[in-house]
Amino acid sequence: MAKKDLDWANIGFAYHVTDKRYVSNYKDGKWDAGTLIDDPNVTLNESACVLQYCQQVFEGLKAYTWEDGSVVCFRPDLNADRIYESAQRIEMPPFPKEQFIDAVDQVVKANIDWVPPYGSGASLYLRPYEFGTGVVIGVKPATEYQFRIFTTPVGPYYKGGATPIAILVSDFDRAAPRGTGSVKAGLNYAMSLHSSVLAHQAGYAENLYLDPATRSYVEETGGSNAIFVDADGKLVVPKSPSILPSITRRSIVYIAEHYLHLTVDERPVKFEEIKGFKECGLCGTAAVISPVGRIVNGEEEILLPSGMEKAGEVIGELYNTITGIQSGKIEAPEGWIHHVC
Ligand code: PLP
Ligand code: COI
Repeated sequence: MAKKDLDWANIGFAYHVTDKRYVSNYKDGKWDAGTLIDDPNVTLNESACVLQYCQQVFEGLKAYTWEDGSVVCFRPDLNADRIYESAQRIEMPPFPKEQFIDAVDQVVKANIDWVPPYGSGASLYLRPYEFGTGVVIGVKPATEYQFRIFTTPVGPYYKGGATPIAILVSDFDRAAPRGTGSVKAGLNYAMSLHSSVLAHQAGYAENLYLDPATRSYVEETGGSNAIFVDADGKLVVPKSPSILPSITRRSIVYIAEHYLHLTVDERPVKFEEIKGFKECGLCGTAAVISPVGRIVNGEEEILLPSGMEKAGEVIGELYNTITGIQSGKIEAPEGWIHHVC
């Protein structure tokens, strides 16, 4: 066994077929023990609930190689919790949390040659997901399910990595009031595909969504939460029941308070307020923290004072601290690092 021969520093955010994936099936009211398999394809009945009514939830987390060669995951317990809650919201049997962590360990170990080396800037992305395999034709939940985890080595999600990006406020909403915006269900992402294609065609890296009820508050983007730094240097974090509770964002809030000694203001944030802010960043497992330099909303353009050349001071420090923790260079708060091997 030897590391795969990839140009790790330039792999981008793409799918590579790796060696093994974890599969567990739910039938007759229980999950089986789960196993690792070779086949990356999924065979389903044509009337499987996932195909007809989008009964699917997923997660994203990463495995990192540390300088001593060990491999760790960042807060996988929170992914286990979140997919458990997402499944309940979509009327799916939740996958047991302990089994989730065991599946993470198994799939990382089985694909160890695909875990990017220390210092490459890349990591192994894990995609846990659960979907309704059972046949339905009337609208109702399936009775059979599959949980899987596949892995793929990845680099930065947004082109340019730490270089600031421009984002476009979407004319469409990704979530409904009292809808499923706060759970990680594939259906939310289907909702975002049209606006994301339009944004990319117009030269923007990503969409920013406003609150679906009044379209005056900032929600998040298609694949990350938004954070801001106000004129006083406070970290401003939008709060809304339709925002996905990002694990990266929750970690950033802790880091801001306990490592950087900043004041954090978590509250509903009016879009109009952004004009008075100094910095903006998008955060998530895939995005890590990507600085934003420009936000366009129809005819209106907001240029953040941090500019389009490099990350602002606070976003830069948050990025360095969280990536330092993930790569083992900075001591993590208790329980944040899960050692795999
Ligand atoms: N918001 C959305 C819509 C996402 O898809 C993601 C990605 O997981 C996030 C936020 C960031 O969440 P996390 O930091 O848990 O990856
Ligand atoms: C993640 O960050 O893990 C996500 O699921 C976001 C997705 C858009 C890649």
